[in-house]
Amino acid sequence: MSAEKMHVEHCKGVNGLDKVILREIRGCSAEVYLYGGQVTSWKNEHGEELLFLSSKTTFKPPKAIRGGIPICFPQFGNNGSLEQHGFARNRFWSVDLDPPPFPSNTSHRAFVDLILRPSEEDVKIWPHRYECRLRVALGPGGDLMLTSRIRNTNTDGKSFTFTFAYHTYFFVTDISEVRVEGLETLDYLDNLKSKERFTEQGDAITFESEVDKVYLSTPTKIAILDHERKRTFVLRKDGLPDAVVWNPWDKKAKAMPDFGDDEYKHMLCVEAACVEKPITLKPGEEWRGRQELSAVPSSYCSGQLDPRRVFCSG
Ligand code: BG6
Repeated sequence: MSAEKMHVEHCKGVNGLDKVILREIRGCSAEVYLYGGQVTSWKNEHGEELLFLSSKTTFKPPKAIRGGIPICFPQFGNNGSLEQHGFARNRFWSVDLDPPPFPSNTSHRAFVDLILRPSEEDVKIWPHRYECRLRVALGPGGDLMLTSRIRNTNTDGKSFTFTFAYHTYFFVTDISEVRVEGLETLDYLDNLKSKERFTEQGDAITFESEVDKVYLSTPTKIAILDHERKRTFVLRKDGLPDAVVWNPWDKKAKAMPDFGDDEYKHMLCVEAACVEKPITLKPGEEWRGRQELSAVPSSYCSGQLDPRRVFCSG
């Protein structure tokens, strides 16, 4: 295999769908389907999968792939007239061979640039022209970086407004042993209570029933602690003020045909998003958003934030 192909390999995935495999020298990898512009796999240097992908997902367009990192654009959820989470997740994206340069040049070699432009059919649903770019990059240490750039290319002088999310499905060992830190005391909209606004308690968030919340104006760093596996995911974001936290729990899991009845125990969605205050772009304007994920061994357990206070072996 050539050095370039080692880092970026274009091949066929499930059902002959085009996919791109990114690899880094120490063995970590990521997979991206052109269908949906969707990351479906992210593995660390030990080959351990870090994202959840449902065993029931069919990889059959026009159904979105259940798991990985679907892109919600131009609408998050049902906050608008479009289909749930917009249509970017069930469109075929293209490889962007000549993307406009990034201001901060990265030295990463394992990356791919994708682009979604509207088809004539899409324009009938959402009457706008745009370029929706996505760069997926795998850092040498295994970090997974997603950068989106959305440009209004309307020629009729019209602005457009959208909401957005990186609908990230983390793989967790046991949801009842997971805590999320960084969202304490924040306001959130509860999708299970007609989007009513509440304020979160002061403790880290834990899970014992269905959760579907949009935390507003969150810090740029959120930690997801998988206590069982002694692994912490760190999510960093930019340009995406909100964070969605979702787990369907048992009842909703059973009602979803593309999701196993017990799979809710092994996933948690924490999604860098822009939901509360939609983004408006005038013709020629571009928006940029970013989500960066890393997975590190937890240096603490049993809810102790100070590693000097508790020592966990193994
Ligand atoms: C979450 C939403 O982001 O996605 C939930 O907050 C929704 O309300 C979930 O149920 C899954 O959506 P979908 O369309 O992929 O089943």
